[in-house]
Amino acid sequence: SKSEPLKVMISGAPASGKGTQCEMIVQKFGLVHVSTGDLLRAEVSAGTEIGNKAKEYMNSGSLVPDEIVTAMVTARLSIKDAQEKGWLLDGYPRSFVQAESLEKLNIRPDVYIMLDVPDDILIDRCVGRRLDPVTGRIYHINNFPPEDDEIKARLIARPDDTEEKVKSRLQIYKQNAETVLSTYLNISMKIDGNRPKGVVFKEIDSLLSRVQKDKEASKSGK
Ligand code: AP5
Repeated sequence: SKSEPLKVMISGAPASGKGTQCEMIVQKFGLVHVSTGDLLRAEVSAGTEIGNKAKEYMNSGSLVPDEIVTAMVTARLSIKDAQEKGWLLDGYPRSFVQAESLEKLNIRPDVYIMLDVPDDILIDRCVGRRLDPVTGRIYHINNFPPEDDEIKARLIARPDDTEEKVKSRLQIYKQNAETVLSTYLNISMKIDGNRPKGVVFKEIDSLLSRVQKDKEASKSGK
């Protein structure tokens, strides 16, 4: 399309539903989904140098060093598809330093979404989460069980999804959330993520549709 593509950041605590909403956003808006968690997990399972460095941090529930993640993200965002279709950045920036790195490169989103979910719900969501290594889809043993036995048999749990590690991930998230938000305060949108995923998506959908319309209008001088 001729208008500038949409640039979106999605943030929120562990298991607030970022990945789940991103699946739906990508389907509707065709943005390139850049998830630092997914990119890092792919590096780990491929046994690359980055993966080997990141593995221990991830498995213990702590943050991977900024320079590793920042290099990965900026490389991915500079690829043509993200430039042309727009992007959906999930799980980055996660620290003030990371936000500053993007600002320095003049990489700014049109909107900063914050998914808000109470702590006790987050822990249950992590402990019950399962991933399909074939399709990459996200399930939950109670909330979103797999469609059939074949999928069920191949589902895997994440090593950082134990109750203890989730608590430490949540604490790290809380330590950083405010300073990251301060960078995007004027474009931030808080969304109640403690509702059925379709209801949450409906709100995100109308938000993004409005942002897209505004962009098109300002581009054509209307
Ligand atoms: P990452 O993969 O980004 O983990 P996270 O932020 O902890 O987020 P999650 O993937 O746990 O949750 P989500 O919000 O995507 O929820 P989901 O949709 O899956 O990062 C992992 C690790 O990588 C980090 O700990 C760190 O080590 C490293 N890393 C990544 N980025 C980094 C960075 N920038 N800097 C440094 N290190 C970095 O949903 C969760 C569950 O809930 C699922 O089971 C789902 O089915 C269910 N669910 C979803 N929505 C709903 C709903 N509305 N109702 C009921 N259940 C729901």
